[in-house]
Amino acid sequence: MVHVQFEPALLGTLRDKVVVLTGGATGIGRAAVLQFAEAGSKIVYGDIHNPPLPTTLPESTLKNIHYKHCDTTSYESVLSLFSHAAATLGAIDIVVANAGVANHKDVFAADADITVAPSMREVDVNLTGVIYTARIGLHYLRKNGKGGGDVVLVSSIAGFKESGGLGIYSASKHGVLGLMRGLHGDAINDGIRINVICPWMTKTAMVKGIEDGWAKLGLPENTPEDVARSFLLCASATRGVDAGETHPGARLPFAGKILWIAGGEAYEIEDGIQELEPKWLGEENSRVLKMGQEFLASGGTSWDVDKKA
Ligand SMILES: NC(=O)c1ccc[n+]([C@@H]2O[C@H](COP(=O)([O-])OP(=O)(O)OC[C@H]3O[C@@H](n4cnc5c(N)ncnc54)[C@H](O)[C@@H]3O)[C@@H](O)[C@H]2O)c1
Repeated sequence: MVHVQFEPALLGTLRDKVVVLTGGATGIGRAAVLQFAEAGSKIVYGDIHNPPLPTTLPESTLKNIHYKHCDTTSYESVLSLFSHAAATLGAIDIVVANAGVANHKDVFAADADITVAPSMREVDVNLTGVIYTARIGLHYLRKNGKGGGDVVLVSSIAGFKESGGLGIYSASKHGVLGLMRGLHGDAINDGIRINVICPWMTKTAMVKGIEDGWAKLGLPENTPEDVARSFLLCASATRGVDAGETHPGARLPFAGKILWIAGGEAYEIEDGIQELEPKWLGEENSRVLKMGQEFLASGGTSWDVDKKA
């Protein structure tokens, strides 16, 4: 684990950058919309809701914020979000797949009615919607050529730890880590950095059921602003490289990382998971796995039999 500390001087690298973010109406996404706009980024957020922005926002921030109705479970809707953003603001630099839902009725509970199919809304929004956003987002970022861009995917503590009562939510959020690992190696060759955010308990509508008990135990909490700041951290970590600047603790290129956000701080955990592999998988298993991975990543290798060299 490495503590990555946000360096505000890097905010300047986000000025005039075009951001597309999903789920920007409330909670963490709303905080991120405001932070990107305050940093001078131009942001289009897609959401199924559109509550008013704070009336106290200065005109210089307000003018950077654009809304487009988008239901991320509809591929056409996500396509429209991106085409609207590109037509309105030009080349897209940063994509944030943040929209998410949690069903707090445990469909695996012993007393649940198994004759009724469970809601798959968590998979639809948290995984399918993120896949749609990543796929279309990569298409737009590739248009920047060597300029590439940043993709931030939002998972959860439930994306890598046991989370009782949240079976489908956990599966969907584990899927987001899988998506990053499935895409990162190819994307970085196109100059596109994909990172994942795994927030721990964050005070939004999503945690109403547990927030009192949590506070009684004095466990760490995030504000939505803390988690939003980690989106900006990912999007800016590599942009100051020419000036020799990054966020303290960030290992460059900042790509393929997983940031756990707890108590308002960001901790990178993926490098440690990868580096400790010989310990948890065994030295020999890790050695041959590396050979297999290198073969799969080498030029000319394809899963597609029609492309077999
Ligand atoms: N709050 C936490 O403790 C916590 C912890 C871990 C992960 N997360 C993740 O953080 C992200 C943001 O959650 P939050 O806590 O701010 O919750 P939130 O409910 O305040 O925000 C979620 C946003 O997503 C939008 N949304 C939902 N379905 C959508 C759809 N189909 N298309 C477009 N927009 C849609 C909602 O309208 C809302 O604006 C989610 O992915 C969530 O799973 C939250």
